[in-house]
Amino acid sequence: MKKNDNIQEEKEPEIEEDLMVDDIEHGNNLNLDDLEKKSIDVKRIKKVDYTKRRATVDSVFDERTFFLVNQILKNQILHRIEGIISAGKEANVYLAYNNIGEEVAVKIYKIDNNTSKWMKNYIIGDPRYKKIPHNVTKIIFLWAGKEFKNLKRAYKVGLKVPKPIYVKDNVLIMEYIGFKSTPAPRLKDIKDLEDPKKTFNEITDFMKILYQKANLVHADLSEFNILFHNKKPVIIDISQAVTKEHPKAEVYLVRDIKNIFNYFEKLGLKTPDPEDFYYEIININK
Ligand SMILES: Nc1ncnc2c1ncn2[C@@H]1O[C@H](COP(=O)(O)OP(=O)(O)O)[C@@H](O)[C@H]1O
Ligand SMILES: [Mg+2]
Repeated sequence: MKKNDNIQEEKEPEIEEDLMVDDIEHGNNLNLDDLEKKSIDVKRIKKVDYTKRRATVDSVFDERTFFLVNQILKNQILHRIEGIISAGKEANVYLAYNNIGEEVAVKIYKIDNNTSKWMKNYIIGDPRYKKIPHNVTKIIFLWAGKEFKNLKRAYKVGLKVPKPIYVKDNVLIMEYIGFKSTPAPRLKDIKDLEDPKKTFNEITDFMKILYQKANLVHADLSEFNILFHNKKPVIIDISQAVTKEHPKAEVYLVRDIKNIFNYFEKLGLKTPDPEDFYYEIININK
């Protein structure tokens, strides 16, 4: 796989047979015609894979997703998918262009049985979800919808998260954080953070406002899920965020605090007492 500097050297996706994913990774700009032509090939490849390796069925561009992306292009919600930014275990993120030529980020969740199992921990107990589907595909769809809703909540109260644009099934479109075709680096990738104290304060403020105004706990907050753009942190990957009422909300909040405090302590910053900060967030005087 050809990689350039813009593409993160993350874990490789387990399955790569899917034609479109492959083409994107090789930098071919697919247009609608290509997609339609290639759907025939995808079917053929799938057939082979069904007999050889079950794995392809779980790949991100399963047939259903492939047609959904095709539909999204047809409806001109997207104009073109440019390339892959990140290939993760649960989802791939692509750089795409909308119909007025602006960059957008497209996150496509993989329909995966194992993933859907742990996802339930972050769904059951969240009062927004009374009925939990049994079907793997439906859980993943709910998950993408949950990320969209969480982004909306955070965005509405003025927090720095990508603006949510569109969601359907397992495809989520959001504001792209980056300059031109270079996506913003993760906080983890920043070598010499200019003003750690300032960034620390911005992130802890984020946590506080997310809890107090958006009623949410991120639940996977770390230097891996924070992009650094225009010298400011932008928080991403918010699908697992739960509302305050979730039975494990406090456990997740403590974990988020630990991650952030540890990271900044390693940079040599003198951080406040994490316990005090916890009580400050949940607004209880110790
Ligand atoms: N809106 C965005 N703009 C630019 N890059 C993004 C955006 N969302 C995600 N990314 C990139 O994709 C990577 C994976 O996204 P993330 O939401 O953290 O998914 P996961 O960790 O579940 O694979 C991020 O580390 C980031 O580099
Ligand atoms: Mg992530």
